[in-house]
Amino acid sequence: MTFKLAEQEWTSKVKLYASLAVQLRSLLEDERDFIANAANFVSLLYHSLPDLNWAGLYLKKDGELVLGPFQGKPACVRIAIGAGVCGKAAQQRRPIFVDNVHDFPGHIACDSASNSEIVIPIIKDKGLIGVLDLDSPSFGRFNDEDALGLEALVEIFVSSSEIRIN
Ligand code: SME
Repeated sequence: MTFKLAEQEWTSKVKLYASLAVQLRSLLEDERDFIANAANFVSLLYHSLPDLNWAGLYLKKDGELVLGPFQGKPACVRIAIGAGVCGKAAQQRRPIFVDNVHDFPGHIACDSASNSEIVIPIIKDKGLIGVLDLDSPSFGRFNDEDALGLEALVEIFVSSSEIRIN
């Protein structure tokens, strides 16, 4: 299975995320297992989006975020709700992108290569499931188009997977 995109698709983030939405639906359509779908979701993102050094999920468990399926270097395992970029996005239940993580108060550094970051909350039936976290070695890698595109992909993942709310 390959997920290589035509060169012109990289020119527009809107087109890129639309193409990824089609690929993600097809990747998850025959499976409901949460961990399997989560693993394939982050793998698709990591190998399809340019300029990333980490992509993964933190899942809410017993009132904190715990590392889930990811691609990239080993990362910190537990993040309190409200701590770091992940905990803030979880607490505020809104996407947060940070142009320069070194300027973000309380940023939790897992990979020294990371310079910018975006975190999207994963919500089902008003319950917080966790967050999707992407890191880039480039400053200012993420913007509103990424937030919108990734929110749409998270929605596909949520509706395609068997989810138990903790
Ligand atoms: N930087 C994140 C921690 C997770 S790692 O980037 C994988 C944060 O500040 O929440």
